[in-house]
Amino acid sequence: PRVACIVVAAGSGTRLGAGAPKAFVALAGRTILEHALHSVAGMSAEPHVVVVVPADRVDEARTVLDRVLSGGDIAVGGATRQASVAAGLALIGDADIVLVHDAARALTPSALFDRVVDAVAATGTGAIPGLPVSDTIKRTAAGGAIIDTVDRSQLAAVQTPQGFPAAELVAAYGSAARDVTDDAQLMADAGHPVAVVEGDPLAFKVTTAWDLRRAEELLRPASA
Ligand code: CTP
Ligand code: MG
Repeated sequence: PRVACIVVAAGSGTRLGAGAPKAFVALAGRTILEHALHSVAGMSAEPHVVVVVPADRVDEARTVLDRVLSGGDIAVGGATRQASVAAGLALIGDADIVLVHDAARALTPSALFDRVVDAVAATGTGAIPGLPVSDTIKRTAAGGAIIDTVDRSQLAAVQTPQGFPAAELVAAYGSAARDVTDDAQLMADAGHPVAVVEGDPLAFKVTTAWDLRRAEELLRPASA
């Protein structure tokens, strides 16, 4: 199948608070975006890559995209993640399968991208990575009062890349009636089944300063 991969990198990184858009913050000597693109470069399928960035980062993104993947397209993002994905979708061309990936998941192994592509190719439906939730989860009311404990066996913490039949995702975006935080929810709204495949702890999202520190630690060469 022809595979396209949209890497969304147009967020501002408010929670990280590093003084620059998150995907352009340094992590072990490279930007978060560059790490993410290296993972994409390691995929078995050679995808058509679309990177979505803030308007004032287009030149910088072009340079890194050409260096790491020897080409691809750049789109300018929007005010929400959903708007940024939509901007990327406009440039995927005639792909059969489209992956949507958060640049902020900088350490995602290439094998996870392959697993998602394989699942979409095998089933013809959407596939997203997820991991069991390890904490006990309480439903709470304002003020902290506990309502009940959520049955953990029914929960999955989901990650990216999320993969879908390209035509279905484009149509789901075309008919989107609300703002959602992930593409699988838009597909569900449009009536398409999406399955969870096994995720990877390394696909964690760099959201806070603590996450950035964890990523730095994981990239540190083992000392002799
Ligand atoms: N993203 C995007 N366009 C937006 C918002 C988010 O492309 N308008 C991207 C981010 O760059 C990131 C991914 O979506 O790779 C996941 O979003 P998140 O982790 O929330 O990143 P930010 O929105 O940048 O961070 P924050 O919410 O803390 O401001
Ligand atoms: Mg955000």
